[in-house]
Amino acid sequence: MKKILIVCLGLATVLAFLIVYSGADEEMPSPNGEEFWTYITETNSYKMWDHWPGYPDMYPGQSPHGAYLKLYVNDIAHEAIQNGKETMPDGAIIIKENYGKDKESLMAITPMYKVKDYDPDAGNWFWAKYGAKGKIMASGKVEGCINCHKSKKENDWLFTEIK
Ligand code: HEC
Repeated sequence: MKKILIVCLGLATVLAFLIVYSGADEEMPSPNGEEFWTYITETNSYKMWDHWPGYPDMYPGQSPHGAYLKLYVNDIAHEAIQNGKETMPDGAIIIKENYGKDKESLMAITPMYKVKDYDPDAGNWFWAKYGAKGKIMASGKVEGCINCHKSKKENDWLFTEIK
């Protein structure tokens, strides 16, 4: 009788672990244009994320990112900004929506995604540029993005101040 009880308890513990882990361990996408798009639009839709703290829903941008911008951050990036971190942790995602002068036409979506050991020479960021419907215009270690953002190397390659 005792043995059966112990076996049952053991099984219950294993089951509890499985349930907890399958829920909490949300798989991050690999630095790949298609996989990343699926992640930010289906797995963990960025439309549900917070804006960068202190930034309104839409604000005027500087060249070359469109006349108006929206800036979304995932939980990991949001927490880092709120805690005044100097650099973004692995898994941080920042998504910029670039709008035209009419404030309505979405011209492009340009994300930055921090991936462990991905590109140590350029802040370990994965960069991409998508059309409004997800057409990949550039993705990976995109030279154009890196060359301009490198002027902000000391702020983790970001123009927007983290702290
Ligand atoms: C010629 C310079 C330039 C190039 C090229 C450029 N950016 Fe930016 N980026 C900026 C500036 C300036 C900002 C600050 C926001 C603004 O436009 O007002 C910015 C902001 C951003 C932000 C918001 C976080 C931050 O740094 O403030 C993201 C995300 C971003 N850019 C992604 C990209 C990606 C991806 C590419 C390449 C496809 C790219 N950028 C190319 C100048 C550039």
